[in-house]
Amino acid sequence: MITFQLNNRAVAFDLDPDTPLLWVVRDHFKLKGSKFGCGMGLCGACTMHVNGEALRTCTLPVSAVQGAAITTIEGLGTPNNMHPLQQAWVEHSVPQCGYCQSGQLMSASALLSKNPNPSDDEIHAAMDGNICRCGTYGKIKAAIKSSAAAMRSGALAESAVQSFDPANRGVES
Ligand code: FES
Ligand code: FES
Repeated sequence: MITFQLNNRAVAFDLDPDTPLLWVVRDHFKLKGSKFGCGMGLCGACTMHVNGEALRTCTLPVSAVQGAAITTIEGLGTPNNMHPLQQAWVEHSVPQCGYCQSGQLMSASALLSKNPNPSDDEIHAAMDGNICRCGTYGKIKAAIKSSAAAMRSGALAESAVQSFDPANRGVES
């Protein structure tokens, strides 16, 4: 029995422990946002977060994620509560056919969770294994940069609000 967290929900899988995580998520748990592209860890369409790391799940046996926290594109945001990257994806009209895009977003979100102000080289390095046959790379980079800026300014605004909170300044109210 393999147990893990899937988008913050405790789940269990008791079939073949060598089954790739991608197929467990898609076929067993019916979350279809993560895609099968190459099946060899070469295209990035199947990318999910495993304990916050962007990993290719078409070659990752489910036995390797015992006790881990898995996040898929379904757990990144919702249409009514989008992740800032998803908002930027919409604003920049990034997707073309869309097939690669959940993997692109999972790699990009893992990058920004660790590095809120990535350079062009750092973006290229993080996104290097995510292939897009429609050639959306330029828009992806622009969306990552604008999303990173929006997230940083949001964090600044939040800290500014807190700095004016009497409770945070030792001021009696
Ligand atoms: S389907 Fe997993 S890397 Fe291509
Ligand atoms: S949007 Fe078509 S493969 Fe990337």
